[in-house]
Amino acid sequence: MTGLAQIRSTFLDFFRKQGHEVVASSPLVPRNDPTLMFANSGMVQFKNVFTGAEKRPYKRATTAQKCVRAGGKHNDLDNVGYTARHHTFFEMLGYFSFGDYFKPAAIEWAWTLVTKEYGLPKDRLTVTVFSEDDDAFGLWKKIAGLPESRIIRIPTSDNFWAMGDTGPCGPCSEIFFDHGDKIPGGPPGSADADGDRFIEIWNLVFMQFEQVTKEERIALPKPSIDTGMGLERISAVLQGTHDNYETDLFRSLIAAIVEETSVPAEGKYKASNRVIADHLRASAFLIADGVLPSNEGRGYVVRRIMRRAMRHAELLGVKEPLMWKLVPALVREMGGAYPELSRAEALIEETLKLEETRFRKTLERGLRILDEESGALGQGDVFSGETAFKLYDTYGFPLDLTQDALKPRGIAVDTDTFGRAMAKQREDARQAWKGSGEARTDTIWFDIRERIGATEFLGYDTEKAEGVITTMVADGKEVSELKQGAKGTLVLNQTPFYGESGGQTGDHGVVRTAGSALFRVTDTQKRLGDLIIHQGVVEKGAFKQGDAVELDVDHARRSGNRQHHSATHLLHEALRETLGSHVAQKGSLVEPDRLRFDFSHNKAMSAEEIGAVEARAAGHAGNPAQRADACPGDVDRGGEALGRRDALRREIWR
Ligand code: GLY
Repeated sequence: MTGLAQIRSTFLDFFRKQGHEVVASSPLVPRNDPTLMFANSGMVQFKNVFTGAEKRPYKRATTAQKCVRAGGKHNDLDNVGYTARHHTFFEMLGYFSFGDYFKPAAIEWAWTLVTKEYGLPKDRLTVTVFSEDDDAFGLWKKIAGLPESRIIRIPTSDNFWAMGDTGPCGPCSEIFFDHGDKIPGGPPGSADADGDRFIEIWNLVFMQFEQVTKEERIALPKPSIDTGMGLERISAVLQGTHDNYETDLFRSLIAAIVEETSVPAEGKYKASNRVIADHLRASAFLIADGVLPSNEGRGYVVRRIMRRAMRHAELLGVKEPLMWKLVPALVREMGGAYPELSRAEALIEETLKLEETRFRKTLERGLRILDEESGALGQGDVFSGETAFKLYDTYGFPLDLTQDALKPRGIAVDTDTFGRAMAKQREDARQAWKGSGEARTDTIWFDIRERIGATEFLGYDTEKAEGVITTMVADGKEVSELKQGAKGTLVLNQTPFYGESGGQTGDHGVVRTAGSALFRVTDTQKRLGDLIIHQGVVEKGAFKQGDAVELDVDHARRSGNRQHHSATHLLHEALRETLGSHVAQKGSLVEPDRLRFDFSHNKAMSAEEIGAVEARAAGHAGNPAQRADACPGDVDRGGEALGRRDALRREIWR
């Protein structure tokens, strides 16, 4: 067995031959699950298929799924770089049955793939089952012919898989590879199971339940199968190493880093090279899926990942932005399997370069402070939470970056004091806002924004998504319920609805619950820059805080808006070409069925000039370079570089 790419295609081909549809990876930002920050396993895109809420034209599927575990339930950021198998980004290979076959076929195919297609020797394999699962125990014995000593019953949550606090879940069975007694560690369930000798390569979940709330678990309509095999792990095993960073893909990425830095990848530089290689993948794939660095939510996770890598670049002695130079190597390795990565190459480079250029300015000063303040500390000491907060506040050092910098010296950070300083800063900002004499309703938005953070906008590439109602406002007050007939405003954690800005009116549409309550959105607005609020009326049923809802944008209206928004750019260009470059936009109004464009010119236009402008604008409309839903100048995005990134982002999603 050779490279990662071949290991991936062997898997997908094998399950295609067993009647599975080969389905593309879903984006890293789950649109069908508002409770999850990132796709963290292959089953996420099929969540509603397992529960029966969504129908697909197939009952068997196989995927290579992009996953990120950095934030939320499965968070691996702190360990990455220092261990052999932790990643922020990884690929999960899986096959799935939606109420079709169950345990016998699932076990048989897993065994055939591992022993025949991948050719792993049977005597190096051990499996686990959930302690009460006699069925699975019997099947492993019969199908794989494994002795009972190598079918280990595990009573803990290790053998019960759940995607998150809610969602489909079930008991599972795991396949382990034994690297042999030269590596320390014991079999699963034993006291030294944490060693590197026995490595889990595949998890077969017998999907039987849905966790509806923390307390309530119900049976799925039909038992199903969900499996997850980390591509990086299986590749390490098949390439004769127990270390994922020794596989062909990581070797190539690390070679690209060494080429740029001329610093060896071993010894004291080993972890930094690994951190950069891993974080490059996570950052690039997240950017390609529309997550740009910011100070909130998903954007903050990508910023933390990027800044952690940038500090490690600094440790390698690099003085210029490094990450963006590595993007071509990554695209060479992974662009074939994930074309979205190639399409977004320019956007990824630009975003990394911008972030690294900005961060570099403060990185050195911040690191100097960190060194000075920790100079007298040693193993087991605690670093001041106030200084950690100052590093965060003044120098943009995320807390985990400070922790990461001190970890090799065995120094912890006083996170309690850090947390208190953070809370005090929020309170001061709130008081300052209140003192500034803004209207009472604006204070409400400020409080809400402070408490629940920005709304994640998903609408560049979708007009439908799921979200959770974080709060509701009616008559200037927050309310926990909106009943039939009530007018009010919904705030959600994420939304495909575009909030009015830059002269473009907000989206209209509907919000529904599974219980068929319906809220008609008659306007979408933005508050404080990034809080998106949906105004409208409850036409049916009732809405409560915490409800999971489906959001559906009025498509015809949005496309009318888009076209007129584009037309303002075309018109502007045509006016400048006809009347002269002094023509400046003074304002514009964009609605689904009309636009208004205000501009400055020193006299009334003649009929000829009007005709010429019309002809030019129509001509530009056919020219993609001038098609301006890519609009660097948009007022609400601010800043040239941001505008360009936004333009690139829209370009790749067109
Ligand atoms: N969904 C199975 C796993 O992630 O292991």
